[in-house]
Amino acid sequence: MSVRLIEKIRPVWAAPIASELDMVEGILESEIDSEVSAAFDLSMHLFSAGGKRIRPALVLFTALAANENADIDHVGSLAAATELVHMASLVHDDVVDETRERRGERTANSIWGNKLSVLGGDYLLSKAFSLLAANGDNEIFTTLSSVAVGMTESEMLQAQSEGSIDAWQENYDQIINGKTASFMRACCECGAMLAGADSTTRKALADYGINLGKAFQITDDVLDIAGDPAQTGKDIGADLMSGKYTLPVLLALKKPAFQLNVPTQVLEGYLTREEAAQIADKIIECGAIDDALNMARNCVQKACEGLKSIHLSKYTSALKSLAQFVIERTA
Ligand code: IPE
Ligand code: IPE
Ligand code: MG
Ligand code: MG
Repeated sequence: MSVRLIEKIRPVWAAPIASELDMVEGILESEIDSEVSAAFDLSMHLFSAGGKRIRPALVLFTALAANENADIDHVGSLAAATELVHMASLVHDDVVDETRERRGERTANSIWGNKLSVLGGDYLLSKAFSLLAANGDNEIFTTLSSVAVGMTESEMLQAQSEGSIDAWQENYDQIINGKTASFMRACCECGAMLAGADSTTRKALADYGINLGKAFQITDDVLDIAGDPAQTGKDIGADLMSGKYTLPVLLALKKPAFQLNVPTQVLEGYLTREEAAQIADKIIECGAIDDALNMARNCVQKACEGLKSIHLSKYTSALKSLAQFVIERTA
């Protein structure tokens, strides 16, 4: 049932790895099984709501781009572990951000409360690392552990920066690198590693991942301001309301038209949903969304340029389509 659900929403770029992604769904379904109903229900809720499965797709594509004969059981297991790390981060992130909607469904915290959601996130993260440990590859285990540390530090830096434009100006790059881009880089590098890639291929795929990840988070930040909640399946305007001054806001602050209309003390103050929506309109009107998307496009261009050093295959082409999807997406 869950595989069919994913099938319905699976994007075109995923076609070359359709059967491998089905395998990952199977691993995830068996990994989240638990006799403790709270652990199972919470995990199953998030799992069956879907999601784009970009991190497992990165692992699969990069491994197969590096070596079409890569050990797919091993690669599939790593791919599932990355989705478990991601799911854990979403459950914790929704507690921290106090959000109500995720993947078009109610968030775990809004159904089960913070206590079970913190524990549910821990459960998913622990499952990810048990799966990695069972595979016994120390370099991959070490790489993903340091990603998990970096993601946590970045979420903490973000929480610490809330409400201060100066802090966001100083920390934005570090925040998006730590919480998203480094993770995507690691998915690509670990995929390449597991497939036995040479150092040039491994570096090219890792560089692709970091640039894709930056573009991905910038686009996510754009969607929080200018997206359609019916498509993103997430709360919109949440970043502005919680004092997260992401790239579109930082770029808007450089525009005289925006400065005149939105004084910084208003922006840094408590905002209702309606006020956040009005400020979002001003950010769009002053052209800052276009500027942010141009920066995301530059990252994607860099990501794709690096792929030229790898031999051409349907997997490298799919990596390029995925990069395009990341900046054109509405969800
Ligand atoms: C959401 O990631 C969290 C961010 C890093 C912005 P995704 O947009 O990949 O979430 P799902 O897995 O598709 O729900
Ligand atoms: C990504 O940042 C957080 C994680 C790494 C989980 P966001 O806070 O922007 O993600 P969304 O918008 O809630 O999905
Ligand atoms: Mg969030
Ligand atoms: Mg966001």
